[in-house]
Amino acid sequence: MTFTPRFPAFLHGGDYNPDQWIDRPDILDRDVELMHEAHVNCVSIGIFSWAMLEPEEGVYRFEWLDSVIDRLWKGGIRVILATPSGARPAWMAQKYPEVLRVNDHYQRAHFGGRHNHCLTSPVYRRKVRELDTRLAQRYANHPAVILWHLSNEMSGSCWCPLCQEQWRGWLKEKYGTLDNLNAAWWTTFWSHRYTDWSQVEAPGGLGESSTNGMFIDWRRFSTWQCKTFMTAEKEAVQAVNPDLKVTANLMERFWDYDYFDLAEGMDVVSWDSYPMWHSGDDVARAAEFAMNHDMMRSFKDQPFLLMESTPSQVNWKPINKLKRPGMHLLSSLQALAHGSQSVLYFQWRKGRGAAEQFHGAVVDHDGRGDTRVFRDVTQVGKALETLQAPLYNAPKQPAQACIIYDWSNWWAIDYAQTGQAKNMQYFDTVNMHYRSLWQLGVNVDFRDERDCTDLSRYQLVICPMLFMLKESFAQKLRAYVEKGGTLLMTYFSGVVDESGLAWLGGAPHGLIDVLGVRATELDALFPEDQQALVMNDDRRYAIRELCEIPEMHGAETLGVYAEDFYGGMPCLTKHAFGKGQAYYLAAKAEQAGLDAIYAALADALALPRALTDTLPEGVIATERGGAIFLQNYSGKAQQVTLAGRYTDLLTGEAVSGTFDFAVNGVMVLAQ
Ligand code: GAL
Ligand code: ZN
Repeated sequence: MTFTPRFPAFLHGGDYNPDQWIDRPDILDRDVELMHEAHVNCVSIGIFSWAMLEPEEGVYRFEWLDSVIDRLWKGGIRVILATPSGARPAWMAQKYPEVLRVNDHYQRAHFGGRHNHCLTSPVYRRKVRELDTRLAQRYANHPAVILWHLSNEMSGSCWCPLCQEQWRGWLKEKYGTLDNLNAAWWTTFWSHRYTDWSQVEAPGGLGESSTNGMFIDWRRFSTWQCKTFMTAEKEAVQAVNPDLKVTANLMERFWDYDYFDLAEGMDVVSWDSYPMWHSGDDVARAAEFAMNHDMMRSFKDQPFLLMESTPSQVNWKPINKLKRPGMHLLSSLQALAHGSQSVLYFQWRKGRGAAEQFHGAVVDHDGRGDTRVFRDVTQVGKALETLQAPLYNAPKQPAQACIIYDWSNWWAIDYAQTGQAKNMQYFDTVNMHYRSLWQLGVNVDFRDERDCTDLSRYQLVICPMLFMLKESFAQKLRAYVEKGGTLLMTYFSGVVDESGLAWLGGAPHGLIDVLGVRATELDALFPEDQQALVMNDDRRYAIRELCEIPEMHGAETLGVYAEDFYGGMPCLTKHAFGKGQAYYLAAKAEQAGLDAIYAALADALALPRALTDTLPEGVIATERGGAIFLQNYSGKAQQVTLAGRYTDLLTGEAVSGTFDFAVNGVMVLAQ
C-alpha cells in the first residue's frame, strides 16, 4: 500500500534543514551527492522554517525553498514538506503575545523553544492557515513533494484565557447542564460544586487537584483541541491539492492526547522512535519498541511511517550511547517488520550550533561520506531497495490477537489514588502481555474502547487493567465471548465508568457472569513482599505490586496464590461462557508467568506464529508479507536451528539447519 503515489517506494532519508545552510550552496550541492551515496531517496524539509519563510509579517520568501526543492528534484530526491507551525518567528511572539502558551501556573511563555503555541489563539491559527495556504499553492503540485508533515510532535495544553473559554464551551457541549457536570465529576466531594459555568477553570497547577473526572475530561478536551488545530492545517493544504496526503509525527508512550482519536484527523500515522539501545536489556527494549510500532500500525489499521530515528545517538538523554555495530540495520528493519513503509532519521546533516549541534546525523561536522554511521545508513538504504519488490505492497498477515489499550483508561488509572498510588504502570504492564506474544512471533493489534472497534476478527482479546470500562464496551466483550471468542482480563478491570465514577454492583462491571469471577479487594505489595502464582501443575511464578482477591462465581481455578491470608485462593481462572471462554488473571505475574499463560493460549487457539521453531532467548521472529524477520536482540551471537529452508532476502543466501546468528543480526527469510 502506498501513501505516496508520486513515489511508491520505501522512503529512506529524513529531516533535512537546508535553511540552516543557505549561505553554503557548495554544501547544499554536496548534500544531494551524499544522499545518493547513502541510498537516501527522500527528505523532510521546512519543519522549523517559519522565520525563513516569513521573515517579516506578510513578507514571504520562498525563493530559497524553490531552489532547495528544485535541487533535490533534479537530484532525484523526494520531499516531505512540513508546515512550520511547530515553532514561530520572534516578530510574531512580540507583536501577538496571545500566540504564546500559558502554563498551569498562569505564566505566559516568552519567545523561545518550540512546540509551545496556544492551541486556540485565533491569531496563530490565522497565521498558520495563511502560510500553509501559500506553501500549498506553491508546492502541493510539485512532482518532488510526496507528503505533508503537519507541524511537529504536537503536545501539551495551554491555560490562557482563550483556552479556558474553549474548555468551558466544550464542557457545555458535552454536559448541557451544570447538574450533569457536577454529577459526572462527583463535585459534592470537598464542596467543589459549580453553580455557574464561569467558575469552571482548567485543572492543575494552582487550580483543581482532586477531581479525577475533570482531569480526564481535560485530557479529552486537549486531544480535541489539538485535533482541531491539526485538521485545520490539513484542510488548508488539501484545499489546494486534496490528493497529497498528510501525516503528523507521533511519539512513544505519549500520554497527553488520545492517539486513536488524533489519528482520525490525519491520513497517515508516522512516529519518532528513539529507543535507548545497549542500556541494559535490549530484548526488553525491543519488546517495548515492537509494541510502539504495532500501536502506530493499529491507530489507523494500516501501515505507518517511521518519521524519525537516529542514525547513531541522540543528545537529549542522560547518557547518549552510540548504536553498536548491526543495531542500526536491526532496529530499522524492526520498524519494517511491524508495518513501516519508511526508515527516516533525525537528521541528515549536523548543524553547527544550538541545541542539536551534537545530535547524531547521517553527515557529521566533517562532511564525510565514509564514516561508520554513513556506512550503516547506506546499508539500510540498500536493504530497503532490496526489499522493495517483495515487501512494499505486502502487509502483515491480519492479527488474530488484540490488546485493548485505551487512552481514557490510561488517564483514569494514573489519576486514581489506589494500589501503587502514582505508579500503576499501565503501559509497562500492557507491554509485558504484549511481550509474551511478540516472543512467540504472534502478530498483535491494539484497539481501544471506541464504538468502531470490531472484535469479531480476533481469536484472542486481552484486556490488561481495563479499569475504565464503558457500558457499551462491556457489552461488546460479553457478545464477543458469547459468540466464541477468548477473553483474557486482568485485575483492576471494569471498576469505573467513562466519567471515572465507580460502577456500583461489582467489578468487572457487566462481566462477572462472563468471567465467573467477581473482584473484591485490591492489595498492593511492598517491593520486599513475597507472593506467587502457583499453577495447578505446581509451576510457580512471582507476583509483584498488585493482587486482587477474586470471589468465584463458577470459574475453574488454574492457579492459586501462594502466600499470605489469601494463599490458596484463586489467582488465575477460566470460565466457559456461551461459545467462548474467559480467563481472569488477578495479579501482576512476572514475565515468565505471562509467557506460560500465553504459550498455552497460543497453542490452544492455534494462533499463527512467524516461526514455530524454538529460538534462543532474545531471538525474535516477526512476519510481514509472508517473509520472516529474524532478529537477534540477545546482545550476543546465537546458534539458531530452523526446520525449514529459506533464502535471506537481504543477502540472497540460503539459510537452513543450524547456523550462527551474529549479535544484533537480522535476516529477512523467505521460503
Ligand atoms: C524529535 C524532534 C526533532 C528532533 C529530534 C531529536 O523529538 O521532532 O525535531 O528534535 O527529536 O532527537
Ligand atoms: Zn491558549
